[in-house]
Amino acid sequence: MTHSSNIPELVNSLLQKMTLTQKLGQMSQVSGNGGTISDELAEQVRAGLVGSIINEVDTDIINELQRIALEETSLGIPLLIGRDVIHGFKTIFPIPLAQAASFSPDLVEQAAHISALEASKVGINWTFSPMVDVSRDPRWGRIAESFGEDPYLCSVFGQAMVNGYQGSSLSDAGAIAACAKHFAGYGASESGRDYASTNIPETELRNVYLRPFFAAHQAGVATFMTSFGDLNGVPASGNQWLLQTVLRDEWQYTGMVVSDWDSVKQLATHGFTENDEESAHAAITAGIDMEMSSATFRYHGPSLLADKRLDMTSIDQAVRKILHLKFKLGLFSNDTSGLFRPTPSEADFVTSASRSLAKKIAIESCVLLENKKQLLPLNKATLSNVAIIGPLADDGYEQLGTWIFDGEERHSITCLSALQQYLGDDVNIHLAKGLASTRSLESDLFDEAISCAKNADVALVFVGEESILSGEAHCRANIELPGLQNELIKALAQTGTPIVAVVMAGRPIIVENIVDHLDALMFAWHPGTMAGPAIVELLFGQATPSGRLPVTVPRHVGQIPLYYSQKHGGKPVNEDTYIHMNDVPVRAAQTSLGMVSAHLDVHYTARYPFGFGLNYTDVEYSDLALDKDSIGADDELTVSVKVKNTGKCEATETVQLYIRDRVGSVTRPIKELIGFRKTHLSPGEEKTISFVISSGDLKFYNIHMHHTAEKGVFDVWIGPHSASEISAQFSLS
Ligand code: BGC
Repeated sequence: MTHSSNIPELVNSLLQKMTLTQKLGQMSQVSGNGGTISDELAEQVRAGLVGSIINEVDTDIINELQRIALEETSLGIPLLIGRDVIHGFKTIFPIPLAQAASFSPDLVEQAAHISALEASKVGINWTFSPMVDVSRDPRWGRIAESFGEDPYLCSVFGQAMVNGYQGSSLSDAGAIAACAKHFAGYGASESGRDYASTNIPETELRNVYLRPFFAAHQAGVATFMTSFGDLNGVPASGNQWLLQTVLRDEWQYTGMVVSDWDSVKQLATHGFTENDEESAHAAITAGIDMEMSSATFRYHGPSLLADKRLDMTSIDQAVRKILHLKFKLGLFSNDTSGLFRPTPSEADFVTSASRSLAKKIAIESCVLLENKKQLLPLNKATLSNVAIIGPLADDGYEQLGTWIFDGEERHSITCLSALQQYLGDDVNIHLAKGLASTRSLESDLFDEAISCAKNADVALVFVGEESILSGEAHCRANIELPGLQNELIKALAQTGTPIVAVVMAGRPIIVENIVDHLDALMFAWHPGTMAGPAIVELLFGQATPSGRLPVTVPRHVGQIPLYYSQKHGGKPVNEDTYIHMNDVPVRAAQTSLGMVSAHLDVHYTARYPFGFGLNYTDVEYSDLALDKDSIGADDELTVSVKVKNTGKCEATETVQLYIRDRVGSVTRPIKELIGFRKTHLSPGEEKTISFVISSGDLKFYNIHMHHTAEKGVFDVWIGPHSASEISAQFSLS
């Protein structure tokens, strides 16, 4: 067993024995061959040209690669085996955006722990997760992989995932190294187009985009991955300010940094370097320790050293971090269980415990957005005929969501099969797909669907996006339901049968054109393996809906970016000042109208605000109280509120705490989430929920780039979502 205090010594003694080729080899990650080992790959490992393998999940192959690294190289340095385990390995949990909607970091931590256990069974020891990019543009496909628009939420969930993957010690069985990605600003790509440039002022970068990365660092994340993006004109993979000044000098991060796939080579494509050699130089100088996929370090490192453009110290620094991680993971342990794995069996994956957790988190991720006339929860005893309609009602693959390389459809339980199981022979099921796929433009299946709906007491309509319509490089300019799904819903609504739409998608979907035709609406995101049982429990009231939106749902794509924590501006809009185009007379005199910040043709509010989600009951907030109305720099205050379930169903309420710093040397957001608590309320039950606020919660990077709390007045809100209105004030003196 290696003690962590010995690691620097062990690393140094190994480093002294290494040739330049071996060092540059450690700094290289190459792709596996997917279930086989080519002669070329075996030779590269044997020659010490490889520090890490990505994308190999066959245990026997991984064991063999490790054996070659251990036994057939002169120094016997084992390999890091990396994989994108993003929301599960074999048991697929809801997409990360959905996991954030759960507002349950504990469950997210447990899910990451199960993912690590499953992945480590095959020999994976490093995942490229969590993605902690703050995502404020739902057109961006990778919003699915994110925890949404809020830096606090992204920080809390990023930390939960890091803790779940890494456990208390990386050398424990079942722990794998996590990776905070994509450092940094990747989610702010122009027009929500993946890989597009980002332009983020430093205060905004520090107050919003860097915060979750710092939180991941505080949680002890083992690795960072750079972004593909061009940040303020300097691509992240060659950005010295980001990787050296911020990450290493200010944050004192000592772990390793990996590039993204080919992102070192792409420095030349960006027009930041002239060629591969310059890219290797820029990336190593900036602070990239390991290059993913492209091999510029390996090819050009020797000439860069020979020409004295790089010195051995910078190479040694990088290799030291890589070796350090390998020791910490226990890969050098004499006990080979740290390295070699027995071939796993079916029973190692998708167990009843992992299924039950996947169901629980899927339940907590679903957000109920409409429930007219309290249509939900449904009561099986009062139903004779149920229509089950839609392209996603029975699709075990699409429900898994984006970026699942190892999840298998055969483990999925679809909504149809869960409904059949639950409704049994007591209720007639009328089944129709309505559309061949979510994107279909053919309406030939409409008639069948309409007649199913006509004959039913209620129509459950499963619509959304196929998983390939979100995720990396899968951005959309129009984020309504694709294909003819809106038309299908309108046609079904004409039957007069109540319509419940369950939307499975990788992003918030704009529902403006269909919401009036729906009786109930639930965003289920892509819920994973256990979508069916989770959704059925919610629809029939065995579980209460408790998911809340981790992103704002706009009314129209033209409002984007629309997020709750925008700035006030000099001419803010409100109900009294808003003017719609239809209220402006034709040939009106030239004025700047109401002189407020709004669009003429779309109401300024969101369709559903951040943090919003309905219960099956009403929860009332009252008596917001502060124990002090002023605090000093070292004080704390307690803010509390009463929450009461005034309806007849159980509730799980997510009580949310927001503040606004009224005046700042840098203007402050109109609201910022600084805490939340999920609490169960039985019918009639009232609870007092309290939060402690300290000056630490009020800190931000000010005009001088100091992380500090500035004196002055603060508003504080506690409520069910970001647009709620119950507030009080206190001051910091
Ligand atoms: C993605 C990363 C991912 C890597 C390896 C890249 O295209 O941007 O997030 O970890 O591929 O699969």
